[in-house]
Amino acid sequence: MTQKIDNILRESRAFPPSSDFKATAHVASIEQYQRLHKQSLEQPEVFWDGVAKELPWMKPYGQVLDWSEAPNARWFVDGKLNASAVCLDQHIEAGHGDKVAILWEGEPGDRKTFTYSEMLAAVCRFANALKARGIKKGDRIAIYMPMIPELAMAVLACARIGAIHSVVFGGFSAQALADRITDGGCIGVITSDGGWRRGKVLPLKHVVDAAVDLCGAHCPVHTVLTVKRTENETKWNAERDVWYHELLEQVDDVCEPEPMDSEDVLFLLYTSGSTGKPKGIMHTTGGYMVGAYLSTRHVFDLKADDVFWCTADVGWITGHSYVVYGPMANGATQVMYEGAPNAPTEGRFWELIERYKVSVFYTAPTAIRAFMKWGDQHVDGKDLSSLRLLGTVGEPINPEAWMWYRKKIGGERCPIVDTWWQTETGGIMISPLPGITETSPGCASLPFFGVDAAILDGDGNELGENEGGFLAIRKPWPSMLRGLWGDEERYRETYWSKWPGNIYFPGDGARRDEKGHFWILGRVDDVINVSGHRLSTMEVESALVSHDLVVEAAVVGRPDDLTGEAIVAFVIPAGSATQDASVVKTLKEHVAVEIGKLACPAEVRLTDALPKTRSGKIMRRLLRDIAAGREQKGDMSTIENPAILEQLRAADV
Ligand code: PRX
Repeated sequence: MTQKIDNILRESRAFPPSSDFKATAHVASIEQYQRLHKQSLEQPEVFWDGVAKELPWMKPYGQVLDWSEAPNARWFVDGKLNASAVCLDQHIEAGHGDKVAILWEGEPGDRKTFTYSEMLAAVCRFANALKARGIKKGDRIAIYMPMIPELAMAVLACARIGAIHSVVFGGFSAQALADRITDGGCIGVITSDGGWRRGKVLPLKHVVDAAVDLCGAHCPVHTVLTVKRTENETKWNAERDVWYHELLEQVDDVCEPEPMDSEDVLFLLYTSGSTGKPKGIMHTTGGYMVGAYLSTRHVFDLKADDVFWCTADVGWITGHSYVVYGPMANGATQVMYEGAPNAPTEGRFWELIERYKVSVFYTAPTAIRAFMKWGDQHVDGKDLSSLRLLGTVGEPINPEAWMWYRKKIGGERCPIVDTWWQTETGGIMISPLPGITETSPGCASLPFFGVDAAILDGDGNELGENEGGFLAIRKPWPSMLRGLWGDEERYRETYWSKWPGNIYFPGDGARRDEKGHFWILGRVDDVINVSGHRLSTMEVESALVSHDLVVEAAVVGRPDDLTGEAIVAFVIPAGSATQDASVVKTLKEHVAVEIGKLACPAEVRLTDALPKTRSGKIMRRLLRDIAAGREQKGDMSTIENPAILEQLRAADV
């Protein structure tokens, strides 16, 4: 069947890069981008060799790419390197040991600074502590920690000795952690007694204890290494549990980096997927590091004196690539913050930007919408003049949120890079390059170097200008996933089977405009089919959010005898969430005017909150069940606010 996605929302606002920005940008002309992009697709060996050469290899690679056993790729074949040496040692050897690597702030306001030399010493000590517990190359280690410097150190310490880290976000439940420990066969867990979140202690070590219990008699974990952070009470198992600070006293701060093959696994990172068992995405050392290094440099146009702040938790891929590996491979100075954006006040992020003179700021649309909801008064009066570039990631950004971000945070002077990518892609795939791209609200713009992106229909035919279809990546790229841990079949099936010819299917819908810019329409399973028209939920949501009465909206389809599917909108209103018929009517009319009658919701339900994953993504799967009056099924372990489901079920109209 030929499938396309109709999309009717058009955005005409466009902002060219400023001449100031252009003057110093790494990629400074569209011609330069086009030439390099063309080379990266037509002669990937030449292009990627030029980039990879900049990393400190311990043994040079031979072939740049071996795709003979597609979809299993081998990049930088037979080369050896160590990711922690890329992030640390090379900068010290180049004389930059005194440069600040991390400006860290805890939620209660405590502060620490680490130079690159200090980071190296700390990482070596951490690595020696792991070795002292018998942990070695190839072992899998789960990391379940708050956003404290020791989290970045733990990740790099694993990399240093060649242990495979599997970071699990500190908000996940014991069951979710247990599932990931078991699936990865992790023999160690690195955690802390607790972390601060909105003035309270998250008792992480308790959760680890519960997870290890849940793993049962065959639990592979022999060591739980615990960093002291909050001093809360913890249970102690003398055989398994070790205080990190005690073990440190027994080790020194010299640890040679393990030479790792390019294709040795660097880490596993589980993505929840909309249904079923979480997938253990595998990334390897060489290609991932090359991708993280280059994308950080170009997308964030990183300069030696920048202060970079990516607000993502290291529990997500964004934190892997743009807190740990990418910025540090580039020798950048960055801010790391432990707590919530609204603790103790809703102005916390802007205070941090002011205090540390952040110049490049990278966050998520869900956060931006929360900032808008909290109000401009938290931004007003803060000095944000150090900012020169803003970024977003994680979901399609509604144009109104983009405009607010540009105006209120960026002072109408900072370009915004709307970066499209996935856990699976390892690094940014489609994004403006800030020195050259005319940016528009909600537009992810241009494929990055090495990314052969196209819009295809269900049969694999390339679609024309502005036709909505499936996003496809037609060539391998260095930081691509190398598989799913222990599930080769699911890897091929999920990502490589939609079309013949080894084309990667990311699961997103998109269109490409007359300028060749990509607009992401959201997950294809978020598409609603009304009377034979496939509509992107994102577009209807954006239309709703553009109304003053609306703070946030989630739109799903429910079965309808007449139209196939009907649109149900769950809306957080600016005022009270009591079901007010006049508000509902106004919003229906507004969507009809903005997009057309076709997209007009059959139902609008007003609510205080939406069910979200712990990474802030709206769980449309649950909303679909509620809209259709079905029982909720499937994995609930990732939901942040389960109580909201009751309210939503009750709010039937
Ligand atoms: O649907 C796309 C959406 O997030 C998905 C990937 O999620 P995850 O693996 O958790 O990684 C998030 C951080 C990279 C994608 O398939 N997504 C991510 N960035 C964007 C986006 N959708 C639209 N615009 C984006 N900039």
